[in-house]
Amino acid sequence: MKIGILTGGGDAPGINAVIRAIVRKAIQNYGYETLGIKDGWLGLIQSEFTPLEIKNLSGLLSKGGTILGTSRTNPFKSVDGPKRILKNASENGINAVIAIGGDDTLGVAAKLYEMGLPVVGVPKTIDNDLVGTDYTFGFQTAVSIACEALDRLRTTAESHHRVLILEVMGRNAGWIALEAGIAGGANAILIPEKPFDIEEVCEFIRKRHKRGRNFSLIVAAEGAKPKGSEDIVYTSGVDEFGHARLGGIGEYIGKEIEKRFENIDTRTVVLGHLQRGGPPIAFDRVLATRFGIAAIDLVHEGIFGVMVGIQGNIMVPVPLKDVIGKRKIVDLKLYDIASTFFG
Ligand code: F6P
Repeated sequence: MKIGILTGGGDAPGINAVIRAIVRKAIQNYGYETLGIKDGWLGLIQSEFTPLEIKNLSGLLSKGGTILGTSRTNPFKSVDGPKRILKNASENGINAVIAIGGDDTLGVAAKLYEMGLPVVGVPKTIDNDLVGTDYTFGFQTAVSIACEALDRLRTTAESHHRVLILEVMGRNAGWIALEAGIAGGANAILIPEKPFDIEEVCEFIRKRHKRGRNFSLIVAAEGAKPKGSEDIVYTSGVDEFGHARLGGIGEYIGKEIEKRFENIDTRTVVLGHLQRGGPPIAFDRVLATRFGIAAIDLVHEGIFGVMVGIQGNIMVPVPLKDVIGKRKIVDLKLYDIASTFFG
């Protein structure tokens, strides 16, 4: 049995730990062969592979990024993409594919499964917005990095009596903004799920001033938007799955605040890819390892067309068709908790 492994979409800390777990158990316990597929689905379209053996695994548990490379290639954008994938898998003796990815990568996996490719998915996105799993790996690392950024911004904001705005990732769901904002004591948290009123944000700042707190910290998810407005989009064009590159909401909020106060100086920090690069925290190393082991166990049991999910600390197979095209938005009860500390 030969298992192909691929990673698609944005990278997330912990991918290499998933690969390590799959390869180790596949070879050592099941006597399978493992093959790395380069750059996501692109590698299967172009037959670009790299051997994965136990001797290649050293140092992977803590290594950020993905040793396989990644891309946002959508095979269904071209007429022959899916056919080439099925042909290349068969010609290279690949009996099953483990696809490590978010909604786009797993969406492709679901379609290819319907076309006959035995596939198991592993939920990967720092955004934590996949349904069927309480957590995706990489998310808690991103939250820790964003929280540390807030701790650092707090001292400079306080010293200069400024409003500091931290823009974090989170295209459709504000999980990173919400959890980092709670942990970092943000005075306002703006997320895609709750379009904001800039006047209300300014009211928080006024409230703080009245209490003698002449600095504020605001966290905004990149997908946050003012009530009644479209996404704040940074560049033109979309990727192969139709997503625009977001960014700019932090700067927008800063300008709007400055328009409303005479003596308030704002600064915006876009955390960007710092929250996605580098080593995973221990939580994500453990979660990624559990996902990898669960995925190869499913392959061994012959269960395909599913994603491994963690639900209440138990690993469960979730049908891909129940996962894709949906979105796990933030827990609004958690947002209520956060809002106790706004202003
Ligand atoms: O993978 C999800 C994500 O991290 C989003 O939060 C963000 O909008 C996007 O990736 C950024 O992608 P890129 O790496 O292409 O800039």
